[in-house]
Amino acid sequence: MTTLTILPSATSIAVAEGDSLLAAMLASGAPVAHKCDGEASCGQCHLFVIEGRKGLSRISRAENDILDTIVGVGSKSRLACQATLTGTEDVTVEVLSFV
Ligand code: FES
Repeated sequence: MTTLTILPSATSIAVAEGDSLLAAMLASGAPVAHKCDGEASCGQCHLFVIEGRKGLSRISRAENDILDTIVGVGSKSRLACQATLTGTEDVTVEVLSFV
């Protein structure tokens, strides 16, 4: 299990290896926008990874293509629906858009 901390609420939850950030966050009740339900097409689940980048899967070409279309993307940007927890280290994310 990995600890996922969600900012700005500072909520911490235990998550299983292999879960996407989006699935883990929704299961915990965290309000994160996800119009396309994880199909990597809406970009609403964009968030910043504050700590624990190595605790997440690598960015795929599909994820990178969507990130390229979003205003405000930076080096810490990920799509919650595409980033999968690897279980190697705890992760802290900052949610940028809410439902
Ligand atoms: S939920 Fe739409 S891109 Fe992630």
